[in-house]
Amino acid sequence: MGEPKRIVVVGSANMDIVLPVARLAAPGETILGGDVAFFPGGKGANQAAAAAKLGGVVWLVAEVGPDPFGAALVSSLQQAGVLTEHVGVSSRPTGCACIYVLPEGENSIVVSPGANAALDPRTATARLEAVGDVGFVLSQLETPLDTVTAVFASARARGATTVLDPAPAQELPAALLQSVDFLTPNQPEAATLLGDARPVIRDFADAEEAAVRLLSLGPKAVVMKLGALGCLVVDRQERHRAKAHQVQAVDTTAAGDAFNGAFAVALAEGRTVAEAAAFANAAAGISVTRPGAQSSLAGRGEVERFLRR
Ligand code: RIB
Repeated sequence: MGEPKRIVVVGSANMDIVLPVARLAAPGETILGGDVAFFPGGKGANQAAAAAKLGGVVWLVAEVGPDPFGAALVSSLQQAGVLTEHVGVSSRPTGCACIYVLPEGENSIVVSPGANAALDPRTATARLEAVGDVGFVLSQLETPLDTVTAVFASARARGATTVLDPAPAQELPAALLQSVDFLTPNQPEAATLLGDARPVIRDFADAEEAAVRLLSLGPKAVVMKLGALGCLVVDRQERHRAKAHQVQAVDTTAAGDAFNGAFAVALAEGRTVAEAAAFANAAAGISVTRPGAQSSLAGRGEVERFLRR
């Protein structure tokens, strides 16, 4: 195996303000929660940190604000091994996410994009090009859509493989979907992209049907993240299933980000798609056993031990 290919993540960086709750408050209602905790998060930053902790050579292209949260996020990324010279400082406040975590580990998230909304297409594309020879470009939907579209067009033109996490869920233009190599939705995101009223995935057969419909929208491959079921990769020739690992979930925040970061690292090392899916499934499985976003991400040795169990 030669040198791993370079990975660039273009996306958000948020400070996560996390509150454990017994249930979600109804409109007009006040309830009491547990102690608040602050964790470095943001889908882009989480995916970059996940990939770097697993040994990837990773840059994050992002914007933070000129405030203590922004400095803390950059420091957390550097500790994970992410290269941060393309994280800019905007005049807008650092993005924040208010996260309510329920007893079973499920969450409810509201994001205030702040500085993430200031990452414009020209700046993001120039930063991507400044990295030079890039193998994989990852993005999500917490930065402006025209930025993601421009970055993927540039990535494709330069021969890089693109990986889009369509989160938070929204409908997407055909031009963007056609520039995606790996589209990695969870069930609600798949339903939104397909225009379905609600997700109805009970098993791998349902997931395969949804993935085939998603393929017709333009991506080269669809990687369905199925939570407790595992994951499914479908392209025009092949199907690969990986069953989820049995773990005690305490907080599912960033499980999808752990998956995407690990998936990119494995592909960047030249592993097959099936191997990458199994590796990513394990990284996601570990992340749900710990609280927080970047605080829950596993290192390389841990994922390899987990896979040998
Ligand atoms: O995917 C998890 C992330 O979503 C959190 O870290 C939060 O910041 C939101 O962006």
